[in-house]
Amino acid sequence: MTSIDHYAVFGSPIKHSKSPRIHKIFATQTEQAIVYAAQEVTAEQFSSAVSTFFDHDGKGLNCTIPLKEIAWTYADSKTARAQTAKAVNTLIKQNDGSILGDNTDGIGLITDLINNHNINLAESRILILGAGGASRGIIGPLLEQSKHPIMIANRTIDKAVNLAAEFVHKNTVKGCGFSDLRNQQFDLIINATSLSLTGQLPPLPDDLVAKNGVCYDLAYSNEPTAFVRWGQQNNALKSLDGLGMLIEQAAEAFFIWRGIRPKTSPVIELLNAERNT
Ligand code: ATR
Repeated sequence: MTSIDHYAVFGSPIKHSKSPRIHKIFATQTEQAIVYAAQEVTAEQFSSAVSTFFDHDGKGLNCTIPLKEIAWTYADSKTARAQTAKAVNTLIKQNDGSILGDNTDGIGLITDLINNHNINLAESRILILGAGGASRGIIGPLLEQSKHPIMIANRTIDKAVNLAAEFVHKNTVKGCGFSDLRNQQFDLIINATSLSLTGQLPPLPDDLVAKNGVCYDLAYSNEPTAFVRWGQQNNALKSLDGLGMLIEQAAEAFFIWRGIRPKTSPVIELLNAERNT
């Protein structure tokens, strides 16, 4: 008898998650017999929901807002990149029954930037807006790519400075406030604040985007986000949202679970086409 392996994404709100769709396409493409569901799970329900899932033959889970930090606490062991991020978006049931936590968000972003958008990260002066959980998850992977120091700007300056101090590396990471960005230019500006989906923006100077610079919003939406629009209005060569990152982090999780790497470009094309119609 062929058994079907079960996977799911937990989060709240989860209704509009694109993950079940993405994993279904991956499974068809790679001929894997899996089901992947989306389940509304709050922080309070997390622990019992995860235990129930894995006790009933669940093989792997994705965790999204607001569960990534709790998932990090829950996992019995963590990969190095999840440890640095202090957040887990992928849980894997291991052969001994223990739960491994990983974080595929950072590698998802890097893959999207380099493979899908041909961005030369090594030569980019990078600015990250925001110093919360989303920023923490991408700093380590970006540092591995870039030759330049990375700047983090945040409303609460102390948080940016403290986050920067956590990353000891051959490149430096610096923290500052938004007003310190005056007269500076960056080749890649990444919005990791939680503002974009409410249609808001941090206060940014007009000349922040360097010639041929790129803006990237970690959030995604069917309509251009406020930050994507800001990039377009401020002469960014490309102003992108996080749909590609979402698909690439899903592909990485799929690879961890199934040992086979799905092709992401057809999925990116399809989901982009759907939102443009
Ligand atoms: P996430 O896990 O999505 O990163 P978070 O840890 O709550 O969520 O972080 C939210 C980020 O958005 C923070 O950098 C926050 O700035 P503060 O550290 O100053 O709170 C930023 N943010 C949220 N609301 C903001 C606002 N109105 N103006 C500027 N930045 C804001």
